[in-house]
Amino acid sequence: MNAIEKALSEVTIVPEYSNSKWEMIDDQTAEIEVMETLYALVRCTKPTNILETGTYHGFSSIYMGQALMDNELGGSIDTIEVSKDIASETEARVKRAGLDNIHVWTSSSLEWPLPTNKRYQFASFDSDAFSRGKEFIRFKDLIDVNSIVCFHDSFFDDLTKEVREFEANGLLKVIRVGIGARGVYVCQKT
Ligand SMILES: C[S@@+](CC[C@H](N)C(=O)[O-])C[C@H]1O[C@@H](n2cnc3c(N)ncnc32)[C@H](O)[C@@H]1O
Repeated sequence: MNAIEKALSEVTIVPEYSNSKWEMIDDQTAEIEVMETLYALVRCTKPTNILETGTYHGFSSIYMGQALMDNELGGSIDTIEVSKDIASETEARVKRAGLDNIHVWTSSSLEWPLPTNKRYQFASFDSDAFSRGKEFIRFKDLIDVNSIVCFHDSFFDDLTKEVREFEANGLLKVIRVGIGARGVYVCQKT
């Protein structure tokens, strides 16, 4: 069993709460199909370092961590979770899944000390919907040009407004919307 299979063996997959065409573990974790998309994007684009905000139970991190493993090129994920209790529970889940390439940081994404000697080639913003735009502004200079940048929950009007403003200001290019029941903006850093 790979890490994704191990992690999924501990939970029950049910129809997505808002649209039963999709599947979910729970309403906080990204839809199964969205996590499969993150997996595929990491496989296709071969990033070294991945940044994620909003770890929650770690399933999206595990999908991306398995993709890094399958790429066989090394690399790791910095995933930031504001809740200490959630982060420690998730660290244990990641360990049980057998991955050692996921670093779970307990902090607000807006306060986490910015690394001075690291750059990211992939980013996924999935914390509090109202913080994701601020996170992009905070982290954008650490993200390489042409990297994939995802914002989950594109159905939120405020997030849509922010992402479209970033696009209008030339900070990124939206390449795909509407993946999953809750939607994901898949963008490319410009
Ligand atoms: C939607 S869930 C993340 C789901 C996860 N990415 C997945 O699909 O498996 C959002 C998480 O972000 C955390 N969070 C909210 N605001 C945050 C912030 N400013 N910094 C870091 N984590 C935050 C919440 O505690 C929650 O666990």
